[in-house]
Amino acid sequence: MQDRNPLKLTIVGPGAMGCLLAATLYKQDCPVSLLDYKPDRAERLKKAGIKVMSSKETWTAFPNVTAEPESLSPQDWVIMFVKAARTADAVKRIGPLIGPGTLVVTLQNGIGHESTLSKIVKPEQIALGVTSQGATLLDEGHIRHAGSGPTTLGLVILNPEAKDRLISLATLLNEAGWPSQVVEDIYPHIWRKLIVNVGINALTALCGLTNGKLPQHPESLRLQELAVAEAWTLSSKKGITLGLSLEEAHDMVNSVCKATAQNRSSMLQDRTKNRPTEIDYINGAITGMGRELGVATPVNEVLTLLVRLNSRLGWKNPF
Ligand code: PAF
Repeated sequence: MQDRNPLKLTIVGPGAMGCLLAATLYKQDCPVSLLDYKPDRAERLKKAGIKVMSSKETWTAFPNVTAEPESLSPQDWVIMFVKAARTADAVKRIGPLIGPGTLVVTLQNGIGHESTLSKIVKPEQIALGVTSQGATLLDEGHIRHAGSGPTTLGLVILNPEAKDRLISLATLLNEAGWPSQVVEDIYPHIWRKLIVNVGINALTALCGLTNGKLPQHPESLRLQELAVAEAWTLSSKKGITLGLSLEEAHDMVNSVCKATAQNRSSMLQDRTKNRPTEIDYINGAITGMGRELGVATPVNEVLTLLVRLNSRLGWKNPF
């Protein structure tokens, strides 16, 4: 059954992607809220708005920004855009936003978010998604929309009521200029994105390379191929229908490097700002699953340990 107001939507996390989506929906006259966990930042964003720069235009949007989940009633859609490592904290705060008909949609990088979300919401109310929209946070509330690409959404457990709600979300996103589709089985899409992140994020962060430069060096290209091959083997052991041969998986990662050549990956941006990275939900998740299923993942383990160690050292050279 639909709530009285069919358009209550809250985005959790005012990072680059959360701000981009909030500003995009606001522009489409959708009454969107953005939930932050820092009250002072929420106040500033509410007053100053969110400024979006793209190659075509620059605009400022004024969505409702709050750090008080209690001020928001149960929503039709809650879209999770927090960094993977912050999901558990965010889940503790979003209780007031969840009603029996709320659909919680995660568009975060990495894997395994549905298990964290299921602490607060039934699996029937969870959808997963991947997006190829690109955004960079230039400054607080100021983002560059680097490029537009498809967004794919699907339910964790198929059920008609949640499916209708997910289709309405895709319609809303399409109307706002985010090309979106709903699929029956989202997991191949999640795994394809995971494989892209496995091949790009840790290596760009460790080597300080843009996505485009990564395959240009024989050493980083070889490391990328080895990490991708481990993730690909694991996906088939898990019974995921990737629809890609290993060679096609390498080509896919390579094309993303080319298409996003100027990008500093999200993990390289985390490194630069000395923020917690998503390593445990990307290469670390591959290693964890590999251990459970008896698939060797030494390259992903080394990448995980190096990123964790450098994070612990604040990415500073101690010498
Ligand atoms: O995390 C990222 O930066 C992005 O998912 C991707 C696709 C690697 C592009 O930079």
